[in-house]
Amino acid sequence: MVRDNRHTYRPRPAKVIKIIDEAPGIKTFRLRFEMQKDRKRFSFLPGQFGLFSLMGIGEATFSMCSPPRQKDIEISVRNVGDVTNAMFSMQKGDVIGVRGPYGKGFPVGDIKGKDIVIVAGGIGFPPLASAVEYIIQRRKNYGKVYVYYGVHAPEDIVYRYKKERWLKSGIKIFTTVEKKTGGWRGPVGLVTDGLKKLKLADVQNAAGLSCGPPIMLKFVSQELRTLGLEPDSIFLSLERLMQCGIGKCGHCNIGNKYVCRDGPVFSLSELRYMQEDVW
Ligand SMILES: Cc1cc2nc3c(=O)[nH]c(=O)nc-3n(C[C@H](O)[C@H](O)[C@H](O)COP(=O)(O)OP(=O)(O)OC[C@H]3O[C@@H](n4cnc5c(N)ncnc54)[C@H](O)[C@@H]3O)c2cc1C
Ligand code: FES
Repeated sequence: MVRDNRHTYRPRPAKVIKIIDEAPGIKTFRLRFEMQKDRKRFSFLPGQFGLFSLMGIGEATFSMCSPPRQKDIEISVRNVGDVTNAMFSMQKGDVIGVRGPYGKGFPVGDIKGKDIVIVAGGIGFPPLASAVEYIIQRRKNYGKVYVYYGVHAPEDIVYRYKKERWLKSGIKIFTTVEKKTGGWRGPVGLVTDGLKKLKLADVQNAAGLSCGPPIMLKFVSQELRTLGLEPDSIFLSLERLMQCGIGKCGHCNIGNKYVCRDGPVFSLSELRYMQEDVW
């Protein structure tokens, strides 16, 4: 939450302190706010997002992928357009503007004690990676955690360096590629294929979290309901082109809801009454 409202709109300077080449066209940037008070102020929940600006280029929306308690924030960025292209030329020491955090994240507090099924597609992984980190920091508060991750091809897989630590924390990870290349020996198909094989001990005590392309969210929603999860235990993060990030400009609305302010994470129960094709 931003505790000082004067900073709601004002980008705060943050320095790039680390750049990780994750996959072709995807980099992770670790950012440190230049001012100590901004480091303290910027506390977020997994699934919340920030607006990141480059002077003379523009602003773009990214979900933080780092553990919420980590003071240096991290974002994973896919190079698709003006801002992201300019970000890909950034070097260590360069400065970027950051405002936020905004929106409603995954309800990680409300789903304590449950088994958690996480389904990530492509560049939808960052907010869910933050959720996994949050859970690991409070591991005893959660039941079994399953991460289903789908990418186009093996070379697109991100966060390889996190895998061992996550596995040690008892997180079960299932990665599926659509196209087999190189020496890939894992499953080939859709991320939802793996979900079909999942057996949960108690579906009443389970929650699903997902982020990815709209068509994937629709099939994830169907699979999770087939598994027996209730619509109010399934949470999907939506993507919309954003400008203000705080429910003022009207760029991101679905009916009377603003994705930036009322989301980007919505329960399937909420989405049932919104014009979003996820049922
Ligand atoms: C809540 C939220 C979280 C996000 N988190 C991440 C993240 O962690 N990592 C990441 O790489 N990206 C993320 N995105 C997507 C990211 O915001 C866009 O890719 C970004 O706008 C690209 O900026 P750009 O200036 O480089 O591209 P632009 O030059 O603005 O656009 C490139 C192309 O993509 C289209 N486009 C841009 N944004 C969207 C959108 N939201 N919906 C549909 N079409 C769009 C444009 O119309 C254009 O065709 C997130 C988006 C949202 C809403
Ligand atoms: S981005 Fe302006 S209302 Fe959501």
